[in-house]
Amino acid sequence: MSTYVVVGLQYGDEGKGKITDVLSAKSDYVVRFQGGDNAGHTVYAGDEKFVLHLLPSGVLQCKGKCIIANGVVVNPKSFIKEIEQIESKGLRTDHVFISRRAHVIMPYHILLDTYREEEQGGTQIGTTKKGIGPCYEDKIARVGIRMIDLLNPEVLREKIEKNLKVKNALFEKYFGKPALNVDELYEEFLAIGQKLKNRIVDTELELNEAIRVGKNILFEGAQALMLDIDFGTYPFVTSSSPSTGGVCTGAGVPPTSLQNLIGVAKAYCTRVGNGPFPSELNDELGEKIRQVGHEFGATTGRPRRTGWLDLVSLKHACMINGINNLVITKLDVLTGIKTLKIVTQYKTEDGKIIDYFTSSTTKLYKYEPIYHELEGWDEDISKVRSYDELPENAKKYISFIENYLGINVYLVSVGPERNQNIIRKDLF
Ligand code: GDP
Ligand code: IMO
Ligand code: MG
Repeated sequence: MSTYVVVGLQYGDEGKGKITDVLSAKSDYVVRFQGGDNAGHTVYAGDEKFVLHLLPSGVLQCKGKCIIANGVVVNPKSFIKEIEQIESKGLRTDHVFISRRAHVIMPYHILLDTYREEEQGGTQIGTTKKGIGPCYEDKIARVGIRMIDLLNPEVLREKIEKNLKVKNALFEKYFGKPALNVDELYEEFLAIGQKLKNRIVDTELELNEAIRVGKNILFEGAQALMLDIDFGTYPFVTSSSPSTGGVCTGAGVPPTSLQNLIGVAKAYCTRVGNGPFPSELNDELGEKIRQVGHEFGATTGRPRRTGWLDLVSLKHACMINGINNLVITKLDVLTGIKTLKIVTQYKTEDGKIIDYFTSSTTKLYKYEPIYHELEGWDEDISKVRSYDELPENAKKYISFIENYLGINVYLVSVGPERNQNIIRKDLF
């Protein structure tokens, strides 16, 4: 049994896609277990650039199967579009499957997400407007439409009718927007079901059997722990559990089967959307990091907010996830910055010094980060492939993170390309 879980430890966009792509070359299965097409994973394969949203980032290199498991919310139209994009570049997609239990993002979920975000006086979270929250709401309310329902005309029609009764009332009476038509939605999604029927399968049995016979299975997280519905900066979070714990419910595999828990963090920090960000840099340096790191959202194109690495939140993320292998990405982006800062503690509004993360999002806005300063380096590190060849100050930066967290950094990423990695331990 060799299982690998790749999760984000900050606010998303840590470079999980790149790391998954690299690891997937040796994986028999690559499995998405939560989130949906709110994710945006950029992967460079030679001269080609791929931006994946719903498909596992393993799709390009995995020679086995790529699975969108039960915990994912699936916009089937995005799925078809992405499949077509991959195929148009001459790559195979016949190894991609979706769980019959996965819930379907319907057009009314997207509209609801959009209307809420645009509502004056509402709580704008700054979502990706992909319908993620409303789809998970329906799943928990037990009125959701699952992939399997797309293959059963009677069930599909009945569920669409029931859902539209409530959603249309909300659209027309509360938001003052037009209602959706039952027949149109039914015909459209019945046709989608027929188009996808060979890809809609049971996935939990096969995954558990694969674990039993010792296949390499890579579980790929989208989003990240600070966007976790329980342990992130609620309510400025996504609606799923992007933690290692989410793998068990999101893919139907037991906790005892999870071995290599790989947490990915950027050497600094970014956030898209609203919510607290204690180490945010609203100055020239923040803008420089945005430009050098190309920090613009892969899904919405929004500029990402940038800031210093925050070890208090990273410790929280490693604890909840039980991380036993760290990946630090984008170390190259910090090259040329004279003094680097890392958050090690917070000062609370009443002057207390703490080194743990708070559950109070309102308080977090008032916390003052306390920084440890380290000297930077000027050397180009993008071509470095062995840890020893890194500049001393870059090594000190990595060691500081390791010592604070008590976890080893097994891979340092120094550029977006597949081979721009310093690998310190072979996990496979
Ligand atoms: P994900 O959502 O976690 O998969 O991350 P994104 O793909 O949204 O954002 C990470 C961005 O950084 C992508 O554009 C990657 O190509 C790029 N990237 C990943 N690792 C590195 C790295 O080590 N250095 C640099 N300069 N870019 C990187
Ligand atoms: P990857 O997988 C960064 C953010 C949104 C918003 C909040 C809720 O690329 O790391 P949602 O549409 O999920 O209801 O939005 O979560 N968000 C992300 N931020 N990377 C992502 O995914 C994200 N997916 C959602 O910006 O603040
Ligand atoms: Mg991303």
